[in-house]
Amino acid sequence: MPDRLAILFVCLGNICRSPLAEGAFRAEAARLGLDAMVDSAGTGDWHVGEPPDPRAQAVARRHGVDIAACRGRQVTEADFRRFSHIVALDDSNLGALRRLRPASGGAALSLLLDHVPGRAGQAVADPYFGGAQGFETAWADVTAGAAALARALAAGRAARS
Ligand code: 4NP
Repeated sequence: MPDRLAILFVCLGNICRSPLAEGAFRAEAARLGLDAMVDSAGTGDWHVGEPPDPRAQAVARRHGVDIAACRGRQVTEADFRRFSHIVALDDSNLGALRRLRPASGGAALSLLLDHVPGRAGQAVADPYFGGAQGFETAWADVTAGAAALARALAAGRAARS
């Protein structure tokens, strides 16, 4: 386990939801003065090396967050040793992470919206194949999740599984 808080957000393509969650969490951690290493990754490999989808960059920018420097990468088993917390954006990616998780365990695994009271078990819907409104909804969801997670980590009470 890393000796410092290290949070990895994981979706399918690593070009829409998880870079948004990474950006929202970085902003919230800065607000709270929470020291953490933050990254994102995808369970799929289609967009390795690519910047976030232009629609994701645009919605983040509209809310004052710059995610242009993110580059797609695929999650690996080694991430379970490098990160203290791995946070999935939906249940199918949580399932993929459970299958990838080494027998030795490592990072605490959770679903982002499990950290938001009243929203346990909910997914951040994939906006990739839809219109601009889907990206606004994804931004609202990742912001709620990132804020709740950052508060829990700052208070020393983020859920483990
Ligand atoms: P994300 O969205 O998982 O939020 O990054 C997607 C991006 C690309 C694809 C699917 C979802 N794709 O099929 O290429």
